[in-house]
This record gives sequence, C-alpha cells and structure tokens, in this order.
Amino acid sequence: MILLDGKKLANELKQEIKQKVDAIIADGGKAPHLAAILVGNDGGSLTYVGHKVKACEQVGFKSTLLHFEDTSISEEFLLNEVSKLNGNKDIDGFIVQLPLPKHINADKVLLSIDPQKDVDGFHPVNVGKMTLGLPSYVSATPYGITKILERYGIETSGKHCVVVGRSNIVGRPISILMSGQSATGNATVTVCHSKTKNLKEMTLQADIIIAALGKPEFLTADMIKEGAVVIDVGTTRVTDTTTKSGWRLKGDVKYDEVAPKCHAITPVPGGVGPMTVVSLLLNTLKATNNEL
Ligand code: GUN
Repeated sequence: MILLDGKKLANELKQEIKQKVDAIIADGGKAPHLAAILVGNDGGSLTYVGHKVKACEQVGFKSTLLHFEDTSISEEFLLNEVSKLNGNKDIDGFIVQLPLPKHINADKVLLSIDPQKDVDGFHPVNVGKMTLGLPSYVSATPYGITKILERYGIETSGKHCVVVGRSNIVGRPISILMSGQSATGNATVTVCHSKTKNLKEMTLQADIIIAALGKPEFLTADMIKEGAVVIDVGTTRVTDTTTKSGWRLKGDVKYDEVAPKCHAITPVPGGVGPMTVVSLLLNTLKATNNEL
C-alpha cells in the first residue's frame, strides 16, 4: 500500500515555490502578496487561515490578514473591503474565508472579487473557465488532489473515479477535472451524493474514490474493491479528551480497515489538507506572474 503523503509533498512543493520567489526577488521583482479576509472566530477557520499565513512566511510571500472579529459587520462593509483589495495594486491575490455569518450573502461577496485576484478559484468566471478546460485558478482542494495524483504517478486515464459529495468547493470541481482532458483526467466519473441509491454498489466499482461528504469514517472496507486508490477529503473535528485541544481530525474514510485493501490512500491529517494550502500558494504565484 502506498501512503500518499500530502504533508511531505506539500513541503517539497513549498521548497520549489520558495526557489521561484527567491529568483523573482533576485531579478529585482517584489514578493508575491496574498491577503485573507476572516470574519468572526470560528475555530476551524482560524486554524485554516493560520496555516495559510504560516505557509506564506515559509515560502517568502507577504501576507495580510484582515480579521474582523465582530460577526455583526454588514454585508456592505465587507463588499467595500473586497473592493479595496480589488483595487490594491500591492496585493496579487486574496481569499474570503468561508463560512461567512448568515446575514451576509456569501455568493454576492464571492461575485464581487476580481476574477484575476480570485486565488481560491470560487468566482463563477474561474469555475466556468475550469469547466471549459481553459487556464484558470482551480480551487485549492481539487487542485491539491490533482497534484497528489500527478506527483505519485497515479494513472487516471480510463479509470472509473467515484466522487462522493457534490459541494461547489470539492465534489463538483474535482469531478469536472477528473473527466477533463489532462494528465490527471480522462477518467470516467460518477458523482454520488445524499440522494444516490445503492452507494455501495457504486463505490465497489471504483478504481479511484474521492470521499468528500464530511461524515467521519463513512467509507468502510466493505465499500471498496481490492487495489482501489482512496482520496480522503474529510476533516471533521471530533471530541478527544486525550489531546491538548480536546479534539482531533477525522477523515471520511475508516482508515485502519480501508488502507490494507488499497493500492494507495491519503491519511487524515497529513493528506489532502496540506496540499490545499500549497495550492493556494501556487495560485498566488500564478497571479503574481500574471499567468492567467
Ligand atoms: N472554507 C473551507 N475551505 C475553504 C477554502 O478553501 N477557501 C475559503 N476561502 N474558505 C474555505
């Protein structure tokens, strides 16, 4: 069984990014600059944004965090902050961390981001370009998954890939990428979701399973065929009194029983998560170089 070590791969990619940043600066250019907007104090969001800021430091990027702790800020205020970032020439790309408070229309906020600076790849312009196979910012989690498949030399062409989950951030975009004409595409893709009948019948046919439904330990050994490749996108915090924080991360896959049956599998933590952060850096580098 091959362990698809996202943490190790993310560190390798960060080294490569750092070399590129060093070269830009040696050439008299400026360091890439990523900004993030965070509203409120949701534990998960604070952790994710913290990882992103730290990763920027590691590769020599500049980062700016706009943290509005008060969750009662208005939609109008937030739209104005986005507008300022759109117009700020020093900032190459930025993200608005989700979820946003309920009284703010997240779709409206994402639509207001300049697609050229939308390094999360959430704007409909970027989603549309990605869907058509045009150069675009691909959202970080799906992008990270394709990097894992590419760097570990996992064959996807002609394989049956079953995606479990249809979120706009993961399930939907990864299903489009896996079926597209690219080095990590050309798969036959089935998208399953909460209304799918006979889910187990589907997953048992899969050469590659991407579990992105957000239900801890949902995928069990009896649901996969021998020799499958399993990508676990789940990151649910479950209570664990033995840890300092009082919680630990659980994936969507029952790892201990599934792993022995697999050709290759991503662990949680240390699989897709670190690759998501590094993908955001790769998108920001593209923004800096005006590659799109
Ligand atoms: N919330 C959960 N994942 C993400 C992500 O990749 N980007 C943003 N902006 N918010 C998120």
